[in-house]
Amino acid sequence: MAWCLVFMVFLIYCLISTVGLPVEPADEVAMRLGGGGGRLSVEPSDVMEASRDFGGLKQGEPMAVFHPRGEGDVAALVRAAYGSERGIRVSARGHGHSISGQAQVPGGVVVDMSHGWRAEAARRAAPGALPVYSAALGGHYIDVWGGELWIDVLNRTLSHGGLAPRSWTDYLYLSVGGTLSNAGISGQTFHHGPQISNVYELDVVTGKGEVVTCSEAINPDLFFGALGGLGQLGIITRARIALELAPHRVRWIRALYSNFTEFTVDQERLIALHGSRRFDYVEGFVVAAEGLINNWRSSFFSPQNPVKLSSLKHHSGVLYCLEVTKNYDDSTAGTVDQEVEELLGELSFIPGTVFTTDLPYVDFLDRVHMAELKLRDKGMWEVPHPWLNLLVPASRIADFDRGVFRGVLGSRTAGGPILIYPMNKQK
Ligand SMILES: Cc1cc2nc3c(=O)[nH]c(=O)nc-3n(C[C@H](O)[C@H](O)[C@H](O)COP(=O)(O)OP(=O)(O)OC[C@H]3O[C@@H](n4cnc5c(N)ncnc54)[C@H](O)[C@@H]3O)c2cc1C
Ligand SMILES: *[C@@H]1O[C@H](CO)[C@@H](O)[C@H](O)[C@H]1NC(C)=O
Ligand SMILES: *[C@@H]1O[C@H](CO)[C@@H](O)[C@H](O)[C@H]1NC(C)=O
Repeated sequence: MAWCLVFMVFLIYCLISTVGLPVEPADEVAMRLGGGGGRLSVEPSDVMEASRDFGGLKQGEPMAVFHPRGEGDVAALVRAAYGSERGIRVSARGHGHSISGQAQVPGGVVVDMSHGWRAEAARRAAPGALPVYSAALGGHYIDVWGGELWIDVLNRTLSHGGLAPRSWTDYLYLSVGGTLSNAGISGQTFHHGPQISNVYELDVVTGKGEVVTCSEAINPDLFFGALGGLGQLGIITRARIALELAPHRVRWIRALYSNFTEFTVDQERLIALHGSRRFDYVEGFVVAAEGLINNWRSSFFSPQNPVKLSSLKHHSGVLYCLEVTKNYDDSTAGTVDQEVEELLGELSFIPGTVFTTDLPYVDFLDRVHMAELKLRDKGMWEVPHPWLNLLVPASRIADFDRGVFRGVLGSRTAGGPILIYPMNKQK
């Protein structure tokens, strides 16, 4: 058994080192690929960084890392790689928060998108880099560099007119190109759709190194291919993101369920509501009764707001926590309590298990970063993350609960987050 293991590891090691070995001196390749602009780096620290990701499970060493100054550099690099005899492979890397090596390219060139945007934003200092109102679209939008982080997009739009994107991920230290290559989902998705449904236009560097502008109307195949395209249809250098007036504050509520049917019935009811009589965010998570207090996402809820654990004594197994928010500002501050009460009044959570907190909108959006800082302190952020995301049809979610949450996992759910929430397919 032990031999078997050693052998396996060795085999994998061989594979990586063979693939990663440059066939010609790296600086010659650099000359040809980096001819135009930008900077092609073979610095061990750059190469090491691009070999890893947040998942910490896969490593793929590139030949070099390219730091573009803007979209022209990206296009020149891809053209050179496409035209090269060796057929050099190129991969875009945003913030490297993939789980399974998606942004890695063993032996190829990683384009580090996160380092180009400040220069690009400066170059575009004229209208596009700031929010623009469009009568045709009936709202504001902003043009952002593909490697820009969502936290920086938020910062910029808030300080120009108090605007903000409409649809989010739970964590904002991810790049625009990185989440648009996937979907970008969170508790706003049921209403606004995923982030890929909140984009008006893209500039994409195609596999041949052409810069193509695309939207629903122009080059729609490329537009819909690049959105959710896992970086396989080109490199997104610019995205035109839909904005809304940002609310000021958020009422953030959690409530517990022991009955999975009641939990999902309530979640599904909440995402079916339209108009203004609804929550703004609907998520939920699975939690073992003994993990309630220590759950890593609970740090915003004060200890003076405890759940009556006595009322849960007879539930030894799995619990489900509904998580919702209601946004408000000065003009609606007077009615938010009543609206929340009414909405909660229709739900069947366990009486006495409602947690409530209230915070600025930005702090709510940036909530996972607070958890990150705490985990970093304990040295528990840069650890392997064997995470998995699944879309399960509503018709089978009860089977999933029976088989996985209450079956395979039992009550061993305190170790990490298990999120579960429904979305409307038509969004
Ligand atoms: C703590 C944490 C919380 C998360 N929460 C959510 C969540 O709530 N909702 C959600 O939807 N996702 C979530 N994710 C997943 C995240 O959205 C994806 O992993 C995303 O791809 C990460 O973005 P990145 O910039 O780090 O991408 P990278 O890891 O750098 O790249 C991801 C993929 O996108 C491609 N890519 C990167 N930039 C571009 C570009 N400019 N053009 C074309 N392709 C590109 C890469 O080649 C690769 O295939 C979370 C991840 C973490 C680590
Ligand atoms: C927003 O950007 C400004 C200027 O770069 C910076 O001082 C500020 O700390 C940023 N705020 C956030 C929330 O990142
Ligand atoms: C869960 O709730 C549903 C709907 O109210 C009910 O039919 C079912 O019997 C409940 N299950 C348990 C185990 O109490």
